[in-house]
Amino acid sequence: MAQSNENIVMFPFMAQGHIIPFLALALHIEQRHKNYNITFVSTPLNIKKLKSSLPPNSSINLHEIPFNSSSHGLPPNSENCDVLPYNLVIHLFRASTSLKPAFKEVISSLTRKNQGQPPLCIIADIFFGWTCGVAKEFNLFHAFFSGASSYGLACYYSFWTNLPHKKVTSDEFVLPDFEEASRIHKSQLALNMLEADGTDSWSLFLLLLE
Ligand SMILES: *[C@@H]1O[C@H](CO)[C@@H](O)[C@H](O)[C@H]1NC(C)=O
Ligand SMILES: *[C@@H]1O[C@H](CO)[C@@H](O)[C@H](O)[C@H]1NC(C)=O
Ligand SMILES: *[C@@H]1O[C@H](CO)[C@@H](O)[C@H](O)[C@H]1NC(C)=O
Repeated sequence: MAQSNENIVMFPFMAQGHIIPFLALALHIEQRHKNYNITFVSTPLNIKKLKSSLPPNSSINLHEIPFNSSSHGLPPNSENCDVLPYNLVIHLFRASTSLKPAFKEVISSLTRKNQGQPPLCIIADIFFGWTCGVAKEFNLFHAFFSGASSYGLACYYSFWTNLPHKKVTSDEFVLPDFEEASRIHKSQLALNMLEADGTDSWSLFLLLLE
């Protein structure tokens, strides 16, 4: 049985394809387990938009953490992939790592408000690997959540780890550690994948080499 008023902290990456499934999960948890307090963390403009998406009877707490896109080489008010051209999206990914101190403060403040009892868990985006360190620091359970299918994620992980498209001259390739996925055609790749060679900004960000 869950103790009453335990906090669940949810933190999606700032893109609609991430925020929407996180919100669906938050509403699902709220529906099923009424005694959890859900704290949904995002940047100011995303929180503003989320306010109008929450059903009026929801008790999900929207928690804003500071972010100013202008300070990260992004155009003003750029807090979501949906307002960025392709070539600037990677800058938002990079800038997102700057949210760590503010995110830690969210956990600290929830802990203080709850008589020193830290939140039950952090449910974070797959692009926020650094939240694992925060969870460890506070000794919290940590889970990743993605709206993508497990098959798609397995392909994605294998692709970025191996960059198999660079090792063939043909238009098709197999994933070396996931051959069951069958043949993949280069035309199925997103532009950042097609361009990836291990030294580009996406490879460096995703392989945490930077
Ligand atoms: C959970 O939410 C309720 C209602 O907003 C609040 O009274 C309570 O203090 C919250 N509990 C925690 C642990 O934050
Ligand atoms: C909010 O209202 C909807 C529609 O009546 C209902 O299905 C849902 O369970 C309610 N949610 C909560 C958290 O009470
Ligand atoms: C963001 O930073 C820019 C440049 O430093 C500043 O002009 C602007 O007022 C800031 N925006 C907000 C919302 O704080």
